[in-house]
Amino acid sequence: MTSKTPVVDVHTHMYPPEYIQILESRDAIPIVRAFPGTADPRIVLLSTEMAPLKEAEAAAARGEPPATSSLPGRPLTSHYNSVAQKIHFMDTHGIDVSVLSLANPWLDFVDKDQAGSLAASVNSGFAAMCRAHPGRLYFFAALPVTAPADVLLQTIADVARLPFCRGVILGTGGLGRGLDDPAMEPVLAALADVGLTIFLHPHYGLPGEVWGPRGGTTGEYGHVLPLALGFPMETTIAVTRLFLAGVFDRLPKLRLLLAHSGGTLPFLAGRIDSCVRHDAHLWKAAKTRRSIWDVLHEQVYLDAVVYSDVGLQAAIAASGGVKTGGLDRLMFGTDHPFFPPLESDEQGEWESVSMNADAVSTALGDGSPEAAAVMGGNAVRILRLYEVPTDKA
Ligand code: URA
Ligand code: ZN
Repeated sequence: MTSKTPVVDVHTHMYPPEYIQILESRDAIPIVRAFPGTADPRIVLLSTEMAPLKEAEAAAARGEPPATSSLPGRPLTSHYNSVAQKIHFMDTHGIDVSVLSLANPWLDFVDKDQAGSLAASVNSGFAAMCRAHPGRLYFFAALPVTAPADVLLQTIADVARLPFCRGVILGTGGLGRGLDDPAMEPVLAALADVGLTIFLHPHYGLPGEVWGPRGGTTGEYGHVLPLALGFPMETTIAVTRLFLAGVFDRLPKLRLLLAHSGGTLPFLAGRIDSCVRHDAHLWKAAKTRRSIWDVLHEQVYLDAVVYSDVGLQAAIAASGGVKTGGLDRLMFGTDHPFFPPLESDEQGEWESVSMNADAVSTALGDGSPEAAAVMGGNAVRILRLYEVPTDKA
């Protein structure tokens, strides 16, 4: 008897209710705001959404009814905070297992005195969701990056003991100064020591000026520039800085799962390698270290959230598909609840999911063992998803 390889979604977010409450009480982004006459409140996350937020608030104060298309951010539907909705989404798309993570900007903005307790409550909320759906849900824990170092390190020790926790989600800011900040190294070392994979995810994008006036303050180009280009560049820059700082060599047990197939890293790794080899100052130290290619082949996993077989082929090649004789480092994801369909029922199939699943089939062959590995087999092995604890989390 053969058993089907499960389909696993490693890139799927939620905002638990206690987190939404905090966003509702805020005056600046990240923020949740209700506007009169609209069905759902809006969740506003990105700095480019700040100007449309201010305009919508001013219009609401003047008593002008908002046009839905001009509202800032996105509607906060049950897809963002309901575990029942997550399970429905999984069933609709044939997803057997999801590895949940808090969505951006995680706990990056939380006051340092509250970060530790909010992390504990968010993480125990995720653990409870997983316990209620054994075998279907696991999670990447959230870290209190603004908390004092002892609180942060204690959180890592605590979440490592939670039965359904398989890693942590982390933004590129680290403790506020990037992942290559020397103060970040003990944190990365602690994660590496306890074997927690870091799911590295962007949020901050690039400085608003790069989008020009039409892409920034007027909002003419919507979310396209920051999400399609800013997010991937942010991830690429963060990992390259980590590489240049020599962190991967000092922490050989460190494992990173990079969102959006590593940003532009698969495409730019050759250029990074060449620039290192042609920088007289850097090369002295770098020639005794492993190259960016070695890091990609040994310490980095990529998700398959790239929406096209062309990008997916680059990700496969960069993560050592041919070299290792298998496509063993790529893992399917959806980015749910972001990118819902605009013109069909949100309770039905999402094009943003089928685009990623179709990219895998087109690149690797529909139903092939390689496609099955990317769709779930790799995640089961890498994140140990066969272990379903029966004890209390
Ligand atoms: N995907 C995410 O994970 N976050 C965003 O803010 C937008 C898309
Ligand atoms: Zn995401």
